[in-house]
Amino acid sequence: MKVLVLGGGGREHALCYVLSKSKDIAALYCLPGNGGIKQIAQTVSDISLSDFKGITEFCKKEKIELVIPGPEEPLVKGVKDVLEKAGIKVFGPSSFCAQLEGSKIFAKELMKEAGIPTADFKVFDNPSEAKKYIKKKGAPLVVKADGLCAGKGVFVCDTEEEALEAVKKIMEDKIFGASGERIIIEEKLEGEEASYIVITDGKSFKALPTSQDHKRLLDGDKGPNTGGMGAYSPTPLINQTLREKIEKKVIEPVLAVMREKGNPYVGFLYAGLMIANGEPYVLEFNCRLGDPEAQVILPRIKTDFLELVMAGLEGNLADFVLEESPEACVCVVMASKGYPGKYEKGKLITGIEKAEALPGVIVFHAGTKEEGGKFYTNGGRVLGVTALAPTLPEAINRAYEAVEKIQFEGAHYRRDIGHKAFKY
Ligand code: AMP
Ligand code: GLY
Repeated sequence: MKVLVLGGGGREHALCYVLSKSKDIAALYCLPGNGGIKQIAQTVSDISLSDFKGITEFCKKEKIELVIPGPEEPLVKGVKDVLEKAGIKVFGPSSFCAQLEGSKIFAKELMKEAGIPTADFKVFDNPSEAKKYIKKKGAPLVVKADGLCAGKGVFVCDTEEEALEAVKKIMEDKIFGASGERIIIEEKLEGEEASYIVITDGKSFKALPTSQDHKRLLDGDKGPNTGGMGAYSPTPLINQTLREKIEKKVIEPVLAVMREKGNPYVGFLYAGLMIANGEPYVLEFNCRLGDPEAQVILPRIKTDFLELVMAGLEGNLADFVLEESPEACVCVVMASKGYPGKYEKGKLITGIEKAEALPGVIVFHAGTKEEGGKFYTNGGRVLGVTALAPTLPEAINRAYEAVEKIQFEGAHYRRDIGHKAFKY
């Protein structure tokens, strides 16, 4: 089968990595891909990720039978709807279902309808009403823009002033444009964050290995939020009891409501959770795999990945056996100096081969570019240095051993990825 992956980050490198090992892969393409993906797939750099017509024509020309989108944006904008009209299979949700991530208000109202535990909230389309509400309620509060904001649309506010300022930025200064026309103000939840990701055919689902992301830039969960500075899998935070609660209280109801609406959700579904007193509360839904969660989850799936995806697409997940490796996996993100703010590109990266020579190490590329056999930085998150080992402490040590072999000017990484696991 000829398969095209959409996207060009670490998650997409991990997708290409597992797909390239699948037995039924005849050809693998990635649009746009990156320096690392180029080593295992044919990268396509002359078509934009938002040019669905161009993507459709490319698929027809190359006889591509299956498209797997990595990031949310094409899904929310309807890549599945457009490609499927042209007879090309897409593994991911329709634009209707992708609203679970594309509109926070859609997601919250659906959670309310389905009785899914989440923070209490109120929706506003007028800044003065929102400010009045903040003054009445008092801090702490969380202010969220409704639409996609590249992960920057959430303000966790510990003071009333911060919350008022967030409303001003989103609704009056319009820093997120139309994505901030409506906002949610919700109660702040306290607890431990975890991601629970499933693959679903709309009726049944299979939980992927559990994982935990490290969202803050600096050690000890300090500094600004990022796309994710590292992850590990499995996480002891999600034990069997909690797993059952998450499936009963979150996953099953959300899939049931989508079916009732006549739009079964097919694809990967990511629940961002806050675990408080042993109970799961949904912070957000994402309509895709996490990044860098995918980099630690996918290498732990022993089952042929294309077979798993095809079972999802064809409605055969109920009887599918998803085999998980007993090994632990850790991914340490190496980022450009300045990320998540402004950063420079084009720095020479050395040592990747030495890192990959270590047992169990895979270096997933995120923001890299290959030129003349050399790799250069080309984004904020540059590499996801990943290690599989029999135990979590061994995987952590191995990942950091690999990180130390890699150099580029201004490289920043956290030194405590995976350490959270030891406190549960
Ligand atoms: P979201 O994109 O909605 O998951 O929000 C991004 C981040 O903001 C989450 O990963 C949490 O760290 C934080 N956050 C969001 N909503 C809440 C909430 N209700 N209470 C506490 N923290 C939150
Ligand atoms: N790592 C968080 C996300 O992919 O949304």
